[in-house]
Amino acid sequence: MNAVHDFARFKAEGRKISVVTAYDAWSARLIARSNVDAILVGDSAAMVMHGHPTTLAATVGLMALHTRAVAHSAGGKFVIADLPFLSFRKGIPAAMRAVGALVTTGAQAVKLEGADGHEDVIRHIVGSGVPVMGHIGLTPQSVNQFGGFRVQGRNAADAARLLRQAHALEELGCFSIVLECVPAELAARITAELTMPTIGIGAGVGTDGQVLVLHDLWGLNTSKVPRFVRRYFDGENVLTNALNEYDTDVKETRFPGPEESYS
Ligand code: KIV
Repeated sequence: MNAVHDFARFKAEGRKISVVTAYDAWSARLIARSNVDAILVGDSAAMVMHGHPTTLAATVGLMALHTRAVAHSAGGKFVIADLPFLSFRKGIPAAMRAVGALVTTGAQAVKLEGADGHEDVIRHIVGSGVPVMGHIGLTPQSVNQFGGFRVQGRNAADAARLLRQAHALEELGCFSIVLECVPAELAARITAELTMPTIGIGAGVGTDGQVLVLHDLWGLNTSKVPRFVRRYFDGENVLTNALNEYDTDVKETRFPGPEESYS
């Protein structure tokens, strides 16, 4: 997958779409070697790469820096970059400056959270030729309003709101939508009602694709991970063990050996 229309084609053909986050060149290079379909330069970079407790600390400058690093090594994978907190809530000119910063550093599409209140901005971005991915459900930029990282859409009114927002985003021209932390049944219903593909995270198996934070998938996240994460690698232990082996070799003068030394 290397173009926006591949998302629609995958859904039409019933092919699932895999997306992972990346924030730097070396992980983008590894993803480029894999079969994963697309890369999200998520504003989760603020948490994963910079140690902030939420994504609210991400700025346009930070996202542009990570987008540039990823795009250079993405090997033709489709790259989507997150518009950070408030960057698309300050009017169309400010939003377009943020979009410009992400696209000129290599993103082929932008993602933004929520639907209500920035319909004009989404319409303007799409109308400017930049593909937009929506994001509803648990939108982490609204963590303070939600009172924590909680599953959304569990009661009827909330579920109806999410359905309405999903349809609105499709009508506004989004090419795809992330459904984060919503009940599996609701996510499957939204998926069935939309033409554009849904990408789930904590939204069950009934979406058109899945996205995971790379560091969760690789087992590099040292904190408590959400229930929806599957770890495919014990990265934290494997990498710590490698460091300890190096440390021992240095201290016991087994590193460097003759083959690692110059004559
Ligand atoms: O920032 C991010 O990583 C995201 C995904 C978790 C969907 O928005």
